[in-house]
Amino acid sequence: MGDQDTGSVGNGLKRQLVESPGRQTKPSFHSWFRFLLLLCLVVFVLCYALSSSSSSWQSNFQLHHPYKWLFNHSKKVDMPPYRVHPKHRHILNEIQTTTEPPTVQPVGVRYHQAYPGNYHFIMDNTEVCSQNPFLVLMVPVEPSNVAARDAIRQTWGNESLVQGQVVVTLFMLGVSGGADVEKLQQENLQYHDLIQSDFVDSYLNLTIKTMVIMDWLATHCRTAAYAMKVDSDMFLNIDNLVIMLQKPGIPKRNYLTGLLMVNRPVIRTKSSKWYVPEEMYPDPQYPTYTLGMGYVFSNDLPEKYVEVSKSIKPFNIEDAYIGMCMKNLGLTPSSPPDPSQFQSYNSKYNRCQFSKVITYILSSAPQLVNYWTDLKKPGPPC
Ligand SMILES: *[C@@H]1O[C@H](CO)[C@@H](O)[C@H](O)[C@H]1NC(C)=O
Ligand SMILES: *[C@@H]1O[C@H](CO)[C@@H](O)[C@H](O)[C@H]1NC(C)=O
Ligand SMILES: *[C@@H]1O[C@H](CO)[C@@H](O)[C@H](O)[C@H]1NC(C)=O
Repeated sequence: MGDQDTGSVGNGLKRQLVESPGRQTKPSFHSWFRFLLLLCLVVFVLCYALSSSSSSWQSNFQLHHPYKWLFNHSKKVDMPPYRVHPKHRHILNEIQTTTEPPTVQPVGVRYHQAYPGNYHFIMDNTEVCSQNPFLVLMVPVEPSNVAARDAIRQTWGNESLVQGQVVVTLFMLGVSGGADVEKLQQENLQYHDLIQSDFVDSYLNLTIKTMVIMDWLATHCRTAAYAMKVDSDMFLNIDNLVIMLQKPGIPKRNYLTGLLMVNRPVIRTKSSKWYVPEEMYPDPQYPTYTLGMGYVFSNDLPEKYVEVSKSIKPFNIEDAYIGMCMKNLGLTPSSPPDPSQFQSYNSKYNRCQFSKVITYILSSAPQLVNYWTDLKKPGPPC
């Protein structure tokens, strides 16, 4: 190949590089010039080899690039702009590991821990939303809490047609060491109502659970009109909820309602269940949010929550985190048409009262079954 004179300009140069030192015994002005040109080329190639092992020629040709590169790398230690003797390389490595905290996140983890894109569904029951439900009830529950799931399945979770509207109830689970995987799969085969994702199921991870619920709604159940995140220890008067959502004037978009929490202080008492360190959430107050026991939203919001959450630092109070998502979306939660329908605790069962509300927090699974059975018996409740 080198013998052919029909080669390109590049080949010609290469030949000169090989031939010129040997052949030219009497250097003329011409050959000196050529030599200088070659020297420049060699220096340039050397510089390039030093400067970059990963970036492309194209980006190196940008004029400003070498300066930026020098600036970046002389500060970063990990790849100095000069050659390092192998003997000293370990010292540089040590400097790097002791002075620089790891900035690179593990593969697959994006944005932050509560970003749902980090996790994968183990069970996702995609087909349950093919019937275009009016309302989807999403219940976060620990994998081992079969009693709570069974109580819900016997009561408000067993209502698939409410006031003429299709309602679906699903349980959201993470993974936990104590849970029997085969039993869960059996349970899902029987009821087709478990959604499970591969995050660690724990109290401090409830924000992850909520965001995975939002992710599931956004990716697996887009046709639903409304959804509700409702805790597993709740009494839910599902009829009243569907009646409320069908009232004229209830927004179909950007709508979040429940028991409103306004100007709530962030708990800084370390022993509290709701303690949040300042590093996680510096402001002394939360934005307006809806209490986590049960909040209802139009189903356009989950996708927006997932998107906006990318830039919202996570903290362990899931309902206030949704409040932050609303705030960052430029939205505020709405007061329900009748705020007295979203109640938290009730110390005594009263059939008439339970027939009027939408939510109450209960203390046990048998309580739910008892109250529900009593409420549904024939005869006027009041
Ligand atoms: C220099 O570092 C900044 C931030 O670390 C990066 O965005 C930029 O692309 C780097 N420039 C070069 C030339 O490597
Ligand atoms: C749900 O209700 C139906 C009747 O509508 C009943 O046959 C079924 O046993 C109930 N499911 C549970 C888990 O109680
Ligand atoms: C929360 O979940 C993540 C992801 O599965 C896990 O790495 C982390 O240990 C969990 N944290 C707690 C407190 O359970």
